Amino acid sequence: MRFITAIFALFFFTASAAAQTEIEFTDYTEADSGTWIAGVYEGGILFGTSAGLDRATEGALARAVAAEGFTGEEGRVLIVPGPGAGLTRVVLVGMGPKAARTPRQYRDIAGTAIRALGETFVDRAVISLDDRDGTVADAGTAANLALGAKLASYRFDRYHTGLDNGHMPGIARLVILTAQADAARALYASRLEPLAKAIFLARDLISEPANVIYPESFVTRVRRAARGVDVDIDVLKVRDMKKLKMGALLGVGQGSERPPRLLVLRYNGGAEGDAPVVFVGKGITFDSGGISIKPRDNMWRMKYDMSGAASAVGAVLALAGRKAKVNVVGIAALAENMPSAAAQRPGDVVTAMSGRTIEIWNTDAEGRLVLADAVWYAQVRFRPRVMIDLATLTGAVRRALGTQYAGLFTRHDDLASQLLAAGEASGEMLWRLPLHPAQRAAIRSDIADIKNISGNTEAGAGVGAQVIGTFVATDTRWAHLDIAGVAWTVTGGPTTPPGAVGFGIQLLDQLVADYYESE
Ligand code: BES
Ligand code: ZN
Ligand code: MN
Repeated sequence: MRFITAIFALFFFTASAAAQTEIEFTDYTEADSGTWIAGVYEGGILFGTSAGLDRATEGALARAVAAEGFTGEEGRVLIVPGPGAGLTRVVLVGMGPKAARTPRQYRDIAGTAIRALGETFVDRAVISLDDRDGTVADAGTAANLALGAKLASYRFDRYHTGLDNGHMPGIARLVILTAQADAARALYASRLEPLAKAIFLARDLISEPANVIYPESFVTRVRRAARGVDVDIDVLKVRDMKKLKMGALLGVGQGSERPPRLLVLRYNGGAEGDAPVVFVGKGITFDSGGISIKPRDNMWRMKYDMSGAASAVGAVLALAGRKAKVNVVGIAALAENMPSAAAQRPGDVVTAMSGRTIEIWNTDAEGRLVLADAVWYAQVRFRPRVMIDLATLTGAVRRALGTQYAGLFTRHDDLASQLLAAGEASGEMLWRLPLHPAQRAAIRSDIADIKNISGNTEAGAGVGAQVIGTFVATDTRWAHLDIAGVAWTVTGGPTTPPGAVGFGIQLLDQLVADYYESE
């Protein structure tokens, strides 16, 4: 009997693993069944597709809009079930005022509609969101609608066996209505789908628990995802890191059963010999705090402390996938921060690869330590044209900026402008915070070159940035993004269900497209 149960469990597990939403583009489909998603302008004005569906249903949509006082404000959704004409439901999504929209707005509007469907099982949904003048979406609009919808449809359902709820919720097929189906399909496949794939990879890596994703298995998953993508992969193991004298990274990993790794991904789509754009990510696969152990509440969430690494790797895969004309490198500094008899202690002194010594005052300030060696290695080995690190570095940045903006730290104003602009355009927004020499003074140590915390509670995010900056030459164009507030969402956003965000991939793709890609 037990044997039979095991077989059934196995069957259900396989059958339900990661249902993916399929995307299609078409220039015509009958409005006689399934779920339709259509736009409404501010003031509850039906237009284009929503006006057409209203006529087909003999005014059911106009009645619903009036009854609910639906305003058509951007971000608002009204679901009208069983409106007639054979339709299962119509999702009316607010577009805001009648005006031109950016690609990012189209992504958000489509995502908002999909998110509003929540756990509903949808066999086939048609998205028909018209352009300003009421005409069916062109190729660019359609491809962005597809990306927004796809991102919003993400689910991490590997561990839902389906044994108790029959079927997995979600949307099986998404049909995007567009006047230019062939061009939209081609644009989506070549330019945007690689982004979606990279973001899904990052979200999977982040969502996976730390008993599944640890440094070695992170590397294995990335290798698997990189099959068929034009990237080179190097992995430094403990003995390689010892040879390079990466004492800071090794110190963080030494308390864990799971040995640390440094993963390097390279994609050369630019001119030979062009200095690369380098992304470096904090990859703490679980941050217990180490001997300076964290309190119990929400400690489980510290599986997301490798979000920076997931996005650094994801950004390289996305750029390679869309054949960007740029040379890029992604580095993941991977370690698990655990307390054990072998763990480093508060008061220990380690020597980083650069030769500088660090006194560990708090083993929970570990991200800056793994990054100290990773950014140094990146500079020595790759001489980057620009280097951007991403890290869930401090709780302080979350308190300062909340959950909408990542903290941006840089000594280079031109790089700050580029990143801030790419943030606005991509919707992954940044807010610049200062690096002040006083914070350098605060990390002076009595017995080593620096210590890893200041010992006071002031400007915690800036102090963390300063520790990393100690290992970056002043003429290296470097920026640090503290993503601790944005990498995990409790409420979700227009294109992000609650949980892992994959923050930074769209931002870095936009940055490269706007400033670092050759023609
Ligand atoms: N991974 C944490 C930062 C963090 C906190 C990320 C909350 C996401 C949510 C980091 O390693 C850490 O523990 N930072 C300490 C630094 C302190 C010891 C100076 C912090 O923020 O408390
Ligand atoms: Zn951490
Ligand atoms: Mn920590």
